[in-house]
Amino acid sequence: MPDWPAHLGRVILETVDSTNLEAARRINTGDQWILTHKQTAGTGRRGKVWEMPKGNFAASLLMHSSDDMQALAQRSFVAALALQDTLESFGATDITLKWPNDVLVKGQKIAGILLASASGAIIIGIGVNLAKAPDIKKLEPNALPPIALSNVIGSHVSALDFLAALATGFERFEQQMRDFGFDPIRRAWLDNAAKLGEVIYARLPNRVETGTFETIDETGALVLMTAKGRLVLPAADVFF
Ligand code: BTN
Repeated sequence: MPDWPAHLGRVILETVDSTNLEAARRINTGDQWILTHKQTAGTGRRGKVWEMPKGNFAASLLMHSSDDMQALAQRSFVAALALQDTLESFGATDITLKWPNDVLVKGQKIAGILLASASGAIIIGIGVNLAKAPDIKKLEPNALPPIALSNVIGSHVSALDFLAALATGFERFEQQMRDFGFDPIRRAWLDNAAKLGEVIYARLPNRVETGTFETIDETGALVLMTAKGRLVLPAADVFF
């Protein structure tokens, strides 16, 4: 197992409402990972319920920083790269990254990332289907089918082992971001992007845009080439 990053705390809970909420309650304490074996009110993007079958992974990193909001938001790409490395280290292959913050295996969702911000800190919440994929009937109609790591590699990885590898991987990409900025993170993310160069759909609050996924820009925004021209979207819900 990799060494735990020395400057980070680690809290392991049996049950909690949501590790993101728990991290917010601990905002005045040091940087730390908070892992729970059970979440009673896990949340996904856009306020959706995050289903967490037993044995799956739910954790949040509370990280204090004086970076601006844009740089903080770019940590979802750092987290996605760390997740990809970690999943690979346990034997998963065919991993792609879906903008803005999902991780796919064989085109199916295995992990999601939910960022929250507080004064001077960011909370990076990560859910991974380690043991079991949630019931597809409980997901949105357009949602990608979920997949679990245990079905991909044929064995079960414990949440604690996954956390040790993820924390180390996150630290490595975070150091790259601190040393060189977002550009190498952006390039590495694009190297593994799902549907790059293909037609995708971006749902906005009042419309759906269709276009070719051209790139992500230097801020992390989605760049789509549509029939009306080049469109830069800082936030959207992507489906394909
Ligand atoms: C998504 O894909 O919609 C994001 C899912 C994020 C789920 C994780 S589980 C740990 C942390 N606590 C929460 O309540 N949500 C995140």
